[in-house]
Amino acid sequence: MGRLIIVSNRVPSPRERTQPAGGLAVGLRDAVRGGSSMWFGWSGNQAEGDGDPEPSIDTVEGVTYATIDLTESQHEGFYQNFSNGILWPLFHYRVGLMNYSRRDWQTYLEVNALFARTLVPLLKPDDVIWVHDYHLFPLGQALRDLGVTTRIGFFLHIPVPPWSLVRSLPGAELLLEDLQAYDLIGVQTDEDADNLNQSFRVNGLTERARAFPIGIDPHEFRAQAETGADSGEAERLHASLRGAALVLGVDRLDYSKGLPERFRGYEALIARYPEHRGKVTFLQVAPVSRGDVEEYRVLRRQLDELTGRINGAYAEFDWTPIRYITRPIARDILAGFYRMADVALITPLRDGMNLVAKEYIAAQDAESPGVLVLSHFAGAAPELDEAVLVNPYDADEIADALHQALTMGLDERKARWSKLDAEVRRTTAGSWARDFLLALDEAPRAPPTPA
Ligand code: UDP
Ligand code: G6P
Repeated sequence: MGRLIIVSNRVPSPRERTQPAGGLAVGLRDAVRGGSSMWFGWSGNQAEGDGDPEPSIDTVEGVTYATIDLTESQHEGFYQNFSNGILWPLFHYRVGLMNYSRRDWQTYLEVNALFARTLVPLLKPDDVIWVHDYHLFPLGQALRDLGVTTRIGFFLHIPVPPWSLVRSLPGAELLLEDLQAYDLIGVQTDEDADNLNQSFRVNGLTERARAFPIGIDPHEFRAQAETGADSGEAERLHASLRGAALVLGVDRLDYSKGLPERFRGYEALIARYPEHRGKVTFLQVAPVSRGDVEEYRVLRRQLDELTGRINGAYAEFDWTPIRYITRPIARDILAGFYRMADVALITPLRDGMNLVAKEYIAAQDAESPGVLVLSHFAGAAPELDEAVLVNPYDADEIADALHQALTMGLDERKARWSKLDAEVRRTTAGSWARDFLLALDEAPRAPPTPA
């Protein structure tokens, strides 16, 4: 068996406790443990000089991490502008937020070519390559152009809109053609697979997309939640609530997560159901993400303002309705908070999967589980349909769902949770990776690139 080579822009820092928040690194790290593998990507650092960077190599617990620095202009054109200012909004159905420029497209292609030529010397003939996410759509083709003939699979962690939206991207056809270099393309849901295959079909290309919903390691996470619930942090949080119910939200500070809609929904709860005033606390953990991209800064200002307004209007001298934190919290501490939370409130306007929803379920105490309130538009919703599902655009619907969750009896909580928990155990990070890699092994080969 050859090695598994994972390639993604974001690579976890294996020696640090607080990782950058984000489902890709979390899901994959849970998946690759154990096998012989190398993880290749961006170091998170800026390159000093010109010329191709040397990868720095570090092996931790059997996984080799090979990472390269990017120059400031590569980082800006490739990561900030093209990946996160163009592809991210478009694929989250927010065409109006897309800031297209040909120059960024060029830098995006250049950095993908740089990834390819830095990776090739590290490869062995029987390696299997697995490329991840929208930063690296053209990487498979760039590797094929350098003569790589081994199996290359691709997994897209974010949603895929229909062709009628994808086509707003100038040159979308070229990206779709590049995707044909992969032997198999995995996406999160059937809807995403249908949409991507539709884009291929319309452009006379081969349909290569299949759904492989990503999961977590529920056993490990449950153990973390049990330990985390006894941590000093969890004890402090518990004491500070003074008996109030805890509603918890955990998301990168991203406009795809429906945070203003969530805050307004919670405001509608305390406005329309005054019996909850003073009896519930909403804790939103929203670590700043992609803070150099304008739309993310706008969102941050908007949330600062909303939190201040809602707290100003409803707080008592001994009760604050919303606690809002924009720093990351280590995942093992968070696990304890999930276990303590009576309700998880997760309201994305679009989300590839949303691992937080699965983590919340895995963290619950079977004797008295909490309630998951989840947007229909999370990739996790088709699997987690025993959650209280909401349309996040309707603040009153969020308020009603919160009221339902906060007043739900033990029998119903248990009945819903045990079905959700079975679902979270069914497709784990490990089974996701195994299923994908098996299908990649069996997939028909992508046709060789015409000379
Ligand atoms: N996370 C974390 N610390 C934080 C916030 C989030 O470790 O302060 C983790 C969270 O537990 C989850 C991941 O980041 O594992 C977020 O993944 P998700 O799929 O929910 O969303 P994404 O960030 O990928 O859009
Ligand atoms: C989402 C994306 C990942 C990304 C993560 C964090 O999960 O699908 O590719 O790594 O967000 O975002 P960042 O820009 O910090 O890598």
